[in-house]
Amino acid sequence: EKDVLILAIESSCDETAAAVVKNGREVLSNVIYSQIDLHTLYGGVVPEIASRKHIEKINQVVRKALADASCTLDDITAVAVTYGPGLVGALLVGVAEAKAIAFAANKPLIGVHHIEGHISANYIENKELEPPFLCLVVSGGHSHLVRVKDYGEYEILGKTRDDAAGEAFDKVARAIGLGYPGGPKIDRVSNEGNPEAIIFPRAKIADNVYDFSFSGLKSAVLNYLNGCQMKGIDINQADVAASFQKAVVDVLVEHSMDAVKRYHVDKFAIAGGVASNSHLRAALESACSKQGVKFFRPSPILCTDNAAMIGAAGYYEYLKGVRHGWDLNAVPNLKL
Ligand code: KG4
Ligand code: ZN
Repeated sequence: EKDVLILAIESSCDETAAAVVKNGREVLSNVIYSQIDLHTLYGGVVPEIASRKHIEKINQVVRKALADASCTLDDITAVAVTYGPGLVGALLVGVAEAKAIAFAANKPLIGVHHIEGHISANYIENKELEPPFLCLVVSGGHSHLVRVKDYGEYEILGKTRDDAAGEAFDKVARAIGLGYPGGPKIDRVSNEGNPEAIIFPRAKIADNVYDFSFSGLKSAVLNYLNGCQMKGIDINQADVAASFQKAVVDVLVEHSMDAVKRYHVDKFAIAGGVASNSHLRAALESACSKQGVKFFRPSPILCTDNAAMIGAAGYYEYLKGVRHGWDLNAVPNLKL
């Protein structure tokens, strides 16, 4: 059997990324240009700035991905690209790049769903992982509890009704003066705080136990901060961060373990930027071990946005025969 080499491109948010992945599981190169410093000034991602930077960087990033993998376009089997969901202007840059390369080099073009990419990051370091399994996808834009029935076959058990988990991290971090991006900062500062210092609410949703809601928690933190300010009390940044994070982690772990029991799965995986949170990883690791369930988590660099995960997902789409035409477009609200 001939090796399948996928050149993958990802530009859905504020990372310009390209990678070469062999047979879905082996990363030959993984180039990520992060725009974070550019957006920090504004306290969040500015879509117009993101698109412009993607245009500036994408060719360099793709060239470096090919060079790092010691290959040329001739060696590539197919080109895979994230076509949604994400920021439309940002997505368009990657899609246009992928189409141009695939057309010029006469290679098949494969559009990949961003969330499918995040989930597939788990295949890279865990060669033995195969569906079926459950996956908690928690990122800046998404909080999904997904049943992976087979490669490319998903059932969404629950999702957020309002803010995504990462969005809540970013908003709370900004409110307590930690700045953007908030997730990694809350993760770090929490190590010095007491997670039991403040009891924040854990939202329950009546009609679907697997759905999430984080906006109430975010409001509770903001109310707490306002209350302290009115009373002239200094806040303890580390205690607020640790208590907020504990509330998020508790809900994510509880929902996940409910689903593990209900669906009798023996494998549980996590994905997305928030999956790099050290406290969440530790809590899920111990919850899974109590349930006798094998726990999978990508390295932090494969949790946040990257193109290697798109190459892994693209490989399985390629095997299924998925090919997109030159009319492939960015779909900002693409459904899984
Ligand atoms: O997956 P990702 O890179 O982009 C999206 O697809 O959204 O996720 C970015 C999100 C941001 O909200 C960021 O604050 C959060 O992931 N994040 C974290 C951590 N690292 C990144 N949240 C909590 N703890 C972390 N260590
Ligand atoms: Zn993402």
